Amino acid sequence: MTATVIDGKAFAAKVRGQVAEGVAKLKADHGITPGLAVVLVGEDPASQVYVRSKGKMTVEVGMESFTHQLDVDTSEADLLALIAQLNDDPAVHGILVQLPLPAHLNSDLVINSIDPAKDVDGFHISNVGLLGTGQKSMVPCTPLGSLMMLRDHHGSLSGMNAVVIGRSNIVGKPMAQLLLNDSCTVTIAHSRTKNLSDVVRQADIVVAAVGRPQMVTGDWIKPGATVIDVGINRIDKPEGGTRLVGDADYDSCAAVAGAITPVPGGVGPMTIACLLANTLTACCRANG
Ligand code: GUN
Repeated sequence: MTATVIDGKAFAAKVRGQVAEGVAKLKADHGITPGLAVVLVGEDPASQVYVRSKGKMTVEVGMESFTHQLDVDTSEADLLALIAQLNDDPAVHGILVQLPLPAHLNSDLVINSIDPAKDVDGFHISNVGLLGTGQKSMVPCTPLGSLMMLRDHHGSLSGMNAVVIGRSNIVGKPMAQLLLNDSCTVTIAHSRTKNLSDVVRQADIVVAAVGRPQMVTGDWIKPGATVIDVGINRIDKPEGGTRLVGDADYDSCAAVAGAITPVPGGVGPMTIACLLANTLTACCRANG
């Protein structure tokens, strides 16, 4: 079997188009422009690339983009003061603090200082609790984008066996929660899971979110299963230079799977599209 390639780039462009329409309507009907504030502490090159890309796409859908680049040695008090100011700013409807933060900053404290209504990452403990109890919340962008691709491909996910590899707060846990809310039978596997390949072989849906390049190989995949690859890893090419690969070994998995997301061009673009969709949602909720 050769897998259907789930085109995240095209899907994300469609979602951004819908967001742009929503933004235009808000402006025309109510004179309101949604605003997204992104806070980056330090100069991690990968984070800088993500933040620039988020800013560019925010403007492209017609929203206001506010980027706050802070020194790597910014104090917790200063960061909390900035977040308090953004919480109070009526022009800001969404706030994202780029992770990881430098080690001297307490990420939980910082995230939980964001107004939950402006928490477009869905990381605030209130939003985590709302998602965990199946209530309306802000949903983390990478799992939300992955879920949208799964629903688009399969229609209903009800009764499917899903294995999520990775237990991070950003991807693994909320992904599992979303799949459970869609009536999947969900297993969360991680670095201590015994017989991982046997566990994964039971899955109709595999979500790979471990941050280990090409770890999941085709012999782990049940024929016809769907593979959602959340990994973005840079590896050396034998001929020199580098390239991006996922947590799944694309060629061997694509030979067995029914459907697979590529890296790049799969989950990645959907993450930013969902961030913009969450910002629009936050703005609409804030304005009744
Ligand atoms: N770092 C890696 N992924 C994310 C994300 O989805 N949100 C934030 N805030 N930081 C990240």
